[in-house]
Amino acid sequence: MNFVGSHILSVSQFERDDIESVFSVADQMIPYANRERVTRVLEGAILGNMFFEPSTRTRVSFGCAWNLLGGDVRETTEIKASAIAKGESFYDTARVLSGYSDLIVMRHQIEGSVEEFASASRVPVINGGDGSNEHPSQALLDLYTIRKEMEGRGKQVDDLRIALIGDLRYGRAVHSLCKLLSLYTNIHFTLISPSELKLPEQYVANIEARGHKVVEMEDLQAGITQADILYVTRTQEERFPSQEEADRYKGLFRLNQSIYTEFCEPNTVIMHPLPRDSRGDARELDDDLNENPNLAIFRQTDNGVVIRMALFAMILDVADKVEDSAQEVPWYTEGRFRS
Ligand code: NCD
Repeated sequence: MNFVGSHILSVSQFERDDIESVFSVADQMIPYANRERVTRVLEGAILGNMFFEPSTRTRVSFGCAWNLLGGDVRETTEIKASAIAKGESFYDTARVLSGYSDLIVMRHQIEGSVEEFASASRVPVINGGDGSNEHPSQALLDLYTIRKEMEGRGKQVDDLRIALIGDLRYGRAVHSLCKLLSLYTNIHFTLISPSELKLPEQYVANIEARGHKVVEMEDLQAGITQADILYVTRTQEERFPSQEEADRYKGLFRLNQSIYTEFCEPNTVIMHPLPRDSRGDARELDDDLNENPNLAIFRQTDNGVVIRMALFAMILDVADKVEDSAQEVPWYTEGRFRS
C-alpha cells in the first residue's frame, strides 16, 4: 500500500511487505525513542489525539511518538468535553478538527466510528481502537514484539505457535492481531476462551482460509503446553450488555508463575495488550510473573512508541528526512532503558 496521506483504519489494508516496511522504519526510530538522538522533522505539525474511551498507553505513546518527531499534540479525552456531547455529528467534528491538525488519532466505543470520521476528515486518521472491531497499531506493535522475541530465540514468525487466551469475542487487539498473523505462513492458533467469548467466526474463517491451523478449547492448562507465545487478554467488561454478565467471566483464566512453570515449555513468551486487570478477583496475569524474563508486556509497550513513530513518518512522508535535523541529546540518559 502507499502509506503517504493514507488513513489507517484496519489491518486488512496491509500485505506482508507493508508490515515489513513499517518494521524497518520502526527500527530506524529506536535511537530517538531511546533518547540517544532528537529530531525536529515534524516541527510545527499538530497531532489531534482524540480519545473518547479510556486509554493510557495508546494515547500517551501516540502523543510521545509525535513529540519525539518534533511535533505538538492537542488532546481531547472525553466525549463530555467535546461538542459530540451536544449532538454534533462525526462529519462536522471531523471537518472542524481536521482543519486544526496534520493527522488525527481517534478512539471511540462505536464500531466503524473512526472510519465514518475519517471519511469526512481532511487529514489522515489512525484508528486508535473502535469498539470491539479493530486496533491496528496495537496489532503492529504486538507483531513487531513477537518477531523480536522469536528472533531472540532463534525462530521467526512463520511456523509460530500462539495461544490467545480470554475474551476473544470483544477483544479488538486480538481481532487485529489474528488478521495480521494470518499473512504469515503455517501459524498454529490455540484459542482458549469460554464458549460464549469465542473468537467470532469471521476471524476464524479468515485464518483457516489462509491455511493455518486453529484449535479452540476452554482449558487453560491444556492449551498452553506447546506454545511459543501466550497472548493473554482482559475481559472487556465495558462491552458486555451488563456488568453481571461480565462478572461471570472474572478470574476464569489466571496465569501465574506456578502454572507457567508446570505447563509451559521453557522460554514461552508471555504477552498482554494491557491493561491487565489487577483486581483480586480478576488477575488474568499475576504479578508473580513480573520477574519472569519471558514476560514481554513492557517490551510491548516500549515497542508501541517506535511503531507509532514509524506510522506517522510514513503517512507524512518524512521517514527519510528524520536524520536531517537529528542531534545527540544533551541530557543524561545512561541506564534509562533496560531491555
Ligand atoms: C487494549 C484496547 O484498548 O483494546 N488496550 C490497549 O490499547 N493497549 C486492550 C484492553 O483494553 O483490554
